Amino acid sequence: MASTGRPRTQAPLTLAFVWRVLRLVWNTDPPGTLLAAVLLVVGACIPTGLLWASKGVVDGVAAGIARPSEENLYRVLGWIGLMALLAISRELFQALAEYVNDGLGRKVEAQATLSVLAKAASLDLAHFDTPHFYDQLEKATREVGFRPMVLYRETLRGMQSLATLVAQGVLVVGLFPAALAIVLLACIPEMRFQFRGVARKFGLMDMRSPSGRRLAYYQGILTDGTLAKEMRVFGVAPWLLEHMRERLKTFLTEDRALASQNARLGLGGRVLSRVAYYGAYGALALEALGGRMSLGTLTMGVAALQTLQIHLSSVLMSLSSAFEHNLFLSRYFEFLRLQPTLQDRAPRVPLPRDIHHEVELRQVGFRYPGAEQPTLHDINLRLRPGEVVSIVGENGSGKTTLVKLLARLYDPSEGVMTLNGTDLRQFDPDEYRSLVSVVWQDFARFELTLRDNVLLGNEARADQLEAALHAAGLDDVVAGLPHGVNTMLGRAFEDGVQLSSGQWQRIAVARAFVRAAPLLILDEPSSALDARQEHDLFHRLRELGRGRAVVFITHRLSSTRVADRIVVLDKGRIVEQGDHESLLRAEGTYARLFRLQASPYVDDLEPRETPAEPMLRTLG
Ligand SMILES: Nc1ncnc2c1ncn2[C@@H]1O[C@H](COP(=O)(O)OP(=O)(O)OP(=O)(O)O)[C@@H](O)[C@H]1O
Ligand SMILES: [Mg+2]
Repeated sequence: MASTGRPRTQAPLTLAFVWRVLRLVWNTDPPGTLLAAVLLVVGACIPTGLLWASKGVVDGVAAGIARPSEENLYRVLGWIGLMALLAISRELFQALAEYVNDGLGRKVEAQATLSVLAKAASLDLAHFDTPHFYDQLEKATREVGFRPMVLYRETLRGMQSLATLVAQGVLVVGLFPAALAIVLLACIPEMRFQFRGVARKFGLMDMRSPSGRRLAYYQGILTDGTLAKEMRVFGVAPWLLEHMRERLKTFLTEDRALASQNARLGLGGRVLSRVAYYGAYGALALEALGGRMSLGTLTMGVAALQTLQIHLSSVLMSLSSAFEHNLFLSRYFEFLRLQPTLQDRAPRVPLPRDIHHEVELRQVGFRYPGAEQPTLHDINLRLRPGEVVSIVGENGSGKTTLVKLLARLYDPSEGVMTLNGTDLRQFDPDEYRSLVSVVWQDFARFELTLRDNVLLGNEARADQLEAALHAAGLDDVVAGLPHGVNTMLGRAFEDGVQLSSGQWQRIAVARAFVRAAPLLILDEPSSALDARQEHDLFHRLRELGRGRAVVFITHRLSSTRVADRIVVLDKGRIVEQGDHESLLRAEGTYARLFRLQASPYVDDLEPRETPAEPMLRTLG
């Protein structure tokens, strides 16, 4: 469970993404970016102006002492006035720059976050089947909130420090090139140390992602209202909290090891640069003592060296910080590059305009991404408009998987699926899905109003809302809600009303009904319904099936009588097809399952041991 070990990283020593982030910033708000750049250039020039003026002051004072005159006095006062003006304008520009950068940063943050969410929403289901994808998603979303903004600011700040550094370097290089060389060379090891520290931190965080996700998952379990019953009845919290404590302890140990390593490296680098600074200082003082430098030049030289050091370390900080954000954001850009796994087949064609839509599967096989064994084998199935087909089979026989293929959430691994004879891969997946409506076995319960739960933004079908609610048997439920269809459902938000499981399931049914899709699929739509609701629903399917193909999956074999055709799946294969009577006569899998279900109602069965009895005996 530990995420430890030596943090290793393949962190590339590159700032490749700085350019991308700058482009992201520019695309978000071009005038704002321009303004920020102007403020940067102006702000960078001011410290150099201040230095220049300080030289004027000191030289003026020295000249005044040697030869007092009114002219010298005004000269000195003039330089001081200029310095005050420059210092005030620096504050002004800084305040303005902060305001502009803050606004820009927020816009960039929103833009970047939305782009990750849009990407995640556009990816198909195969991505969601691998833990690696969740790691990628976690890394992209965790970092994207603040890092573009910080990287952008650090880049600006670094450029500003660099501009000041260059301006002052020019000043110092004319005076004493060796001093500049010493200070600059001393920063190279410091920079290397900082980059290494950053790369280590990135490696640790990157490696920790699965562990971090598990921690967040436990956190979610402990606070999720829908799991609260199970958590309390089984007393899960202490057990989970202990796991979390262990994991957090590991994190802490890792963090401390990293921090101490980085602190040692950082200290070494800084000591080196201090030694270099005082060496250069001494050299300048020797020059002045030897009479080769005026007092004003020495003062300016020392001040310039000092600010040079400050700006140099600020450039280094910005560089290493940019490097860090760049590394983390590389995961964001990688995420944006993910491609859908659904295949395209040329030529792309528009959906058929026919009223009749017929979907056919020919020798279809399917294996889930990363799975060892295929889930479906050699499926041949035709779904005709106006026909009600029931799919039955034991748990795990592949019924829901087949529905996912029919909704084109995956492409088959073998064989071909067609719509009116055209390969499904030739259609745009979203366009094709507009022909399919599904009640999922694990249907969603949205914490939205009842109306929104059914329409989900499809306002064009609002006129069908009432009919859909009626068909799903929800008239009584709506009548009992305080604000009718506009009642908020669930308990997450103000005035929300909680429904029973069966009522929620009927809402999922209404959601599928409201859409005029030629292919209507219901995966165990009555698992939570009472006997009357179930009876009504299955008998309504015949009406709804007019002109469209209806597929329903059920474990209650008494419901299959309303189907025109029953398809029996066993271990991913279609083993039987036909109507209820003919399948009973065939005495195959269907007949066996049907008799098994009917047996509790048959009086003359011999009493037999149930599967639970041996366990009950061991429990005493
Ligand atoms: N996302 C997935 N990745 C890998 N394997 C999966 C995935 N979803 C389902 N399976 C596997 O595919 C097989 C068929 O699952 P499926 O959900 O289609 O069965 P089902 O017939 O609908 O069962 P049930 O009656 O319990 O709903 C199972 O063995 C299951 O473990
Ligand atoms: Mg299923």
